[in-house]
Order: sequence, then C-alpha cells, then structure tokens
Amino acid sequence: MPATPPRPARPVNPTAQAAPVRARLVNTEDVSRKPSPTHIRVDGVTHSYAEHPVLTDLTMIIDKKDRMGLIGENGVGKSTLLRIMGGAETPNIGRVVRPVRTGLLWQEVQFLPSDTVNDLIEGGLVGLRAVEAELDDAAHALSDNSVLDDPIASRRANARYARALAAAEAADVWNVEPRRDELIAGLGISGIPLDRRLDEVSGGQRSRFALAALLLGRPLALLLDEPTNHLDDNATDFLRKQLINWRGPVVFASHDRAFLDEVATVLVDIDPTREGLVRFSGTYTAYLTEKAAERKRWEHQFRSEQAELQRLEYTLSVTAREVSNDFGRKDNDKVGFDFKAGNVERAVARRVRNAEAHYLDLEENQVWAPPSVLSFGGIPKGAQELEGDEPLMQLTSARVGDRLALDDFAIMPNSRHLITGPNGAGKSTLLSVLAGAIKLDPVTGGTLRKRKGLRVAMLEQDVHFAEPHLTARRIYELTVGEKRAEALPLSSFGLLVPRDIDRPVGELSIGQQRRIALALIIAKPPHVFLLDEPSNHLSLTLASELEDALGTYPGAVVVASHDRWLRQRWTGTRIALSHGKIVSRTEPVKVVAPVEADAEAETKTETETEAEAMAESSAGNASESDAVAPQKADS
Ligand SMILES: Nc1ncnc2c1ncn2[C@@H]1O[C@H](COP(=O)(O)OP(=O)(O)OP(=O)(O)O)[C@@H](O)[C@H]1O
Ligand SMILES: [Mg+2]
Repeated sequence: MPATPPRPARPVNPTAQAAPVRARLVNTEDVSRKPSPTHIRVDGVTHSYAEHPVLTDLTMIIDKKDRMGLIGENGVGKSTLLRIMGGAETPNIGRVVRPVRTGLLWQEVQFLPSDTVNDLIEGGLVGLRAVEAELDDAAHALSDNSVLDDPIASRRANARYARALAAAEAADVWNVEPRRDELIAGLGISGIPLDRRLDEVSGGQRSRFALAALLLGRPLALLLDEPTNHLDDNATDFLRKQLINWRGPVVFASHDRAFLDEVATVLVDIDPTREGLVRFSGTYTAYLTEKAAERKRWEHQFRSEQAELQRLEYTLSVTAREVSNDFGRKDNDKVGFDFKAGNVERAVARRVRNAEAHYLDLEENQVWAPPSVLSFGGIPKGAQELEGDEPLMQLTSARVGDRLALDDFAIMPNSRHLITGPNGAGKSTLLSVLAGAIKLDPVTGGTLRKRKGLRVAMLEQDVHFAEPHLTARRIYELTVGEKRAEALPLSSFGLLVPRDIDRPVGELSIGQQRRIALALIIAKPPHVFLLDEPSNHLSLTLASELEDALGTYPGAVVVASHDRWLRQRWTGTRIALSHGKIVSRTEPVKVVAPVEADAEAETKTETETEAEAMAESSAGNASESDAVAPQKADS
C-alpha cells in the first residue's frame, strides 16, 4: 500500500444529521419549554445502517441518579446508541426522551479544519448561552407593560422567569471562566493557547478539550463515548469525581475496567447474542466473572442436553427395536408371545414411550447453542527472534523539540518495555521515533541505530484509513500481498466477524478499525512491536487476549499505556517518562525462589515511582505538547 498523505482533519461524522457537531456538544432543545425531563428514556429503539441491523427494540430508562456503563464487544452499537440518545442521530424506529440540554462526547472529536480550541469550547457552551439568553428574555418579559397589566400574563411571566433562573443556577452561567480554567487544569491541558487550531494539537489533547468543553456546558444529562481513552491517572481521577457528583443521568461507553468499577452504578451489556439488554448492578469485574460463569453453565447445559437427545434417539431408534426383536415371537410359540417375553415387551414399550415423551419434551425445551464469540487467534509464527547481546535498536542523545530528551535507550532482543507517564510525557513521541514516523533532526536530534533488516511496526493510538471505501479484505490483501492473504486469511485472526470483512472500513466502528490495523501488523509479525495505548478502543476481551499473546511474542515489545489494569499486570521492564525524560526504570523481578516478599516490595516501589513521576509532571504541566499521533504508514 502506498503511504498515506498527512492525516486530514477528521471531518464531521457522516452519521450526524444536523449542524456541525462542534456546535452540538450540548444539545439545546427549547430551553424555555416546560418541564424538562430529568431522565433519559429509550423506547423501542431499532436502528440499522443500510441492511445492516445494529440495535433491535431497545428500551431503557436512565434515571437522574444513574451512571450507566455501556459495555459490549467492538461494533455492537454502543456509539450508535449514545448518538441516538443524544439526538445526533434519529433511530429508524422508536424514540428517546431526554433532558433539554443533553451533552454528548464523541468517541473521536468532530471538528472542521479551521476550528480552534476556542471554537470547541464555545460548542460546549451553546446550551449554556441559550439558558443565559432565555434568562434575559424572561427578565424583559417581566417588565413588559402589557404583562404588568394582565394578571394571567404576569403569573406566566413570573413562572417563566423562575424557571429560567433555576436553569441558570443549575448551569452556573455566571462562573464560566473560572470553571473553564479549573476543567482545563484538571484535565491536564493548561498552557495550550485557546486560539490554537485543533488539527495542531494531539488527538489526546483534542479529546481532553472536548471533554472540558462538554463539562463546562453543565448539561443536564451526560453521554460520554469512551471518555478515559486519552486520560492519565490525574485526569481520570478528576473526571471520576466530576461524574460521581453530576446532578443528572450519565451514560458512558467504556472498556476501561477500573473506571467502570469505580464510576458505574449500573452496567448495560449490548450483547447481540442475548435477547434484549443485560442489566447488572454490581461492578464490572463481578459482571465479567458472572458472565463467564454463566457462559460455562450454558455450554455445559447445551452439551449435556445434546448428549441426552442423542442417547434418547438411540434408545428410540435402535435399542427399542433390538430389544423388541430379541423378545419377539419364537418359532415354536404358536399361541402367542411367550409370557415372560410379553412382560418384557410391555416394559420395553413403556420405556420407549417414556423415552419418546422425554425426547419430545427435551427437543422442544432445549437451550440454544451458545453463539460463537470472537476469539483472538493469537499472533502467527513468523517473527524471527533476533538473538544476541546487541540491541535491536538504540537511541542516543535523542531530542525532539521539548517533547523528548533521551540520552540512551536500547531495545534488546525479546525485551518487554512498558512506557508510562502522564499526558504529554512523551510516550507517543518516543514510539513514533522508534517507528520512524518522527525523524530525528540529523544535526541536533541524536541518533537511532537499528539492526540491519529490522522490521518495526506500530499499532497507533488512533487509526484512520486513507481509503475508507475499501473493504477490510481488500486493504488486507493490498498490505500483506494476495498470496499471504490467501495462506493466512484475515478471518483467521478472530478479529472481525465474517460479515464485516467485506464492508468498507469507513463504516466500521472505531474499535473494529483498530482491530484491522492490528491484523495488518501481525500478519507479518515485526521484530519490534510498538503498541500505543493498546487497550484504547479495543474490547476488554481482545485487550486481555492480546496482552497474553504478547507475553510469548518472540520479538521485542514496547507498550505505551496509561491503563491501570495493564500496568498492574505488567511483568517486563517499566519506564516512567516525564517531560520527555526517563524518570524511573524498573527491571523485571528475576524469579529466584524465594523472592515473593522482594517482588512485592519492588512492585510497590515501582507504583510509588510512577505516582511520583505523575505528581512531578502535573506540578509543572504548563507547557504540555505531547505527541501529535503519527500518520498511519499504510492502510
Ligand atoms: N455511518 C455508518 N454507516 C454504516 N455502518 C455504521 C455506521 N456507523 C456505525 N456503523 C455500524 O454499526 C455497528 C455499530 O457501530 P458502533 O460504532 O456503534 O459500535 P461500538 O459498539 O461503539 O464499537 P466500538 O467498541 O468499536 O467503539 C458497526 O457494525 C458499524 O459498522
Ligand atoms: Mg464506539
């Protein structure tokens, strides 16, 4: 595939049906209308794209105090449902009742090429401005002479003013500026001029500005599509507190296990293999355990029922006949059946009748076969392990503006590095330098040495295909070659269901697109595999399977991640970055028994070091300029 041109600004999503989304972070249905519902109600919603059904007859209520976590595999329709709930898309069938000002954070920020950070923030304030305008109008109406002279009109005007005042108080329209600064600081994006164009800040920074803009507008209901994908620990904690104190319904789609555990009061699983939605009111972790146990029970019941049906069939068609033949009329039995044989035959007939009844009952009430679920097929063989004591890659005196300053960083064969650090610490910049997407300045940038013939590939944080009209199958063939595609079909990775393989990639969900990017890499496994935030957008099931597969990957692996779950389970080298520099490095604990106490101590120290690095960085986070996500090399 040819290299893609520089990534264009993400256009406004084609599924949006109304005005540009930058002006629609917060929806404003008539704010003077009374009364605004305080809950969200989804009533019999069914939605498809062309002939592709996505949501079928969904009904749910999200109360004022609910914080609903929407979960489900990539492509099940979480984003579609959120857009429908927020009024950005109209369902084919059914309707949604929502508060007058309902805010929607898109999974990827929607903006026009000329938009600035400030445009995005103003987009979040549209609803709030409408509340302000309504308060002004209501105040004017109060002093209108014709109203003063008419008791009924006066009562109405008073009621309208009281409503407008209550709405203005709830929206805190008088404190926009201090709240804006607090949100921007809390989400770790202070120091970026508000007149900067949105295509000149990193994807992560854009998402955080969009989140700040949305929260600033104080919508009465919040809809958030994967809000923590670009947040470090401090910002996630900040958001968690905001949501826990939110005074209206909150619905968020997420694959972030720790965040779901901490924030959701109720979980809704959009699982197309089940009838209707599954609601669960425990933690996500408990839900996953329960779901796995339920699936096991289901599989077990299905297997034993099928075995029983087979046994009964055998009894009915074979055993009964054989037994009956054995005790059939004997040649010398002229009168009739032998007395004993007659008894046996009657008993057999009874058994057969019982078996028949049992069979019919079981056949009618048997459980369905558990539908097959996507399961990652693992990383195919082919990454030849490069041996030796020499590094595969080595960075010396690497400098990228004020984003990266590494004196020495080497990747040894079969090594495992986890790069951590707060937003803007330089994680993506480091990966992009290693991937060759950011070239070091030949004079001032230091050097990157690589072994000859080294294959390096990176799973980017955000994946965009240059030719979204091509199908996943075609892109795969063009990237890996038709021969390899035939020998190792895309379907063999268990990353996409067959019906999505022949759909244009631009129509697939964001997680599904990232799954394709992953397939393109592992079809030709690289010697050095770089993964930028591997758990973003990928379903938790896949993220865990991928993590396991990486454990035995024969090449070297470098992962940049803020995901708490992944960090806790990491067993390789940990590198904490802050302001582009390595502030701590912890090598994996060598297992030399008995070392449990030491290992624990080491892990603890590492966590503390990370926390220190975070604290240090957030203390002086004013000039953040984290990596602009590199372009996709091919698509
Ligand atoms: N504009 C569109 N045109 C055609 N199909 C679409 C469009 N938007 C979404 N779809 C399809 O609808 C289904 C649900 O997509 P959606 O983005 O809602 O999934 P999701 O659950 O949010 O997935 P992810 O976890 O990857 O974010 C997918 O099969 C997708 O291909
Ligand atoms: Mg989605």
